[in-house]
Amino acid sequence: MASIIYFIMVEVKVFDSPTLIAKESAKLSLDILKSAIGQRGYAVWILAGGTTPLLAYKEISDKYIKDLDWRRVYFLIGDERSVAIDSPESNYRLINEALLSKVDLDRDKLILPRYSEDNISDADTYNLAVAKMFSNLGPEVDLLWLGMGEDGHTLSLFPGHQEINNQSRYVLPVNNAPKPPLERITLGLKALSEVKHCQVLASGSLKKDA
Ligand code: 6PG
Repeated sequence: MASIIYFIMVEVKVFDSPTLIAKESAKLSLDILKSAIGQRGYAVWILAGGTTPLLAYKEISDKYIKDLDWRRVYFLIGDERSVAIDSPESNYRLINEALLSKVDLDRDKLILPRYSEDNISDADTYNLAVAKMFSNLGPEVDLLWLGMGEDGHTLSLFPGHQEINNQSRYVLPVNNAPKPPLERITLGLKALSEVKHCQVLASGSLKKDA
C-alpha cells in the first residue's frame, strides 16, 4: 500500500497587541489568497467570528481592498450562532460589516448559513451548500481563519463535546454550547480535511493555557 506523508509547518508568532496580530494576519492572508488565485483561478477562504478576526477584516478592508480580485474568492463562514442575521450576536453580521459589504464579490461564491430558528434544519441546508461547493471544486481550502475561546474552543467545537469527533458530514448542529447562544451550527472535521493554510487568531492572556 502506498503511504502518503504530510508535512505540516506550525509557526507561533507573538505580538504586543491585537492590532499587530491583525496587521500580520491581513498581510499574510492577502498573499495566500493571491497565490491561490494565481495557481488555480480562485481561492477558498473560511471566515471566523470573534474580536481578533474582526480587527483583521478591518485591516484588509482599510488597506488591501484594491489588491485582490475578490470576485474569485469563495467565502464560507466557519460557524454561526442561531440568531437572526441582523442580530448583534451574528458572526455573519460582524464579518459582513467589516469586510464582505466592502468588497466587490461574486454572490454565487458566498456560501453562507441561513437562519430559520431551527439549527438542525439550518445545519442540513448549510451542509448541502458546502457539499455542493466541495464537489464542484474539490476539498482544498486555501485559507482557514480560526478564533479561539479561553476554554480552547474553536469554530463552535467545544472541548469535551461530541461534535469534535464527528467526521460524518461537513456541517453539524450544536446544542447546549457552553458559551451562549446555546444553539449554533459549525463546520466539522470533514470540512477541514484539506486546509492548506490555517491561521488561529487569538489574543488575551486568559487564552494562554488553551
Ligand atoms: C462564537 C465566536 C467564538 C470566538 C472565540 C474567540 O461564535 O462564539 O465566534 O467562537 O471565535 O470565542 O473570540 P474572541 O476573538 O472575541 O476572543
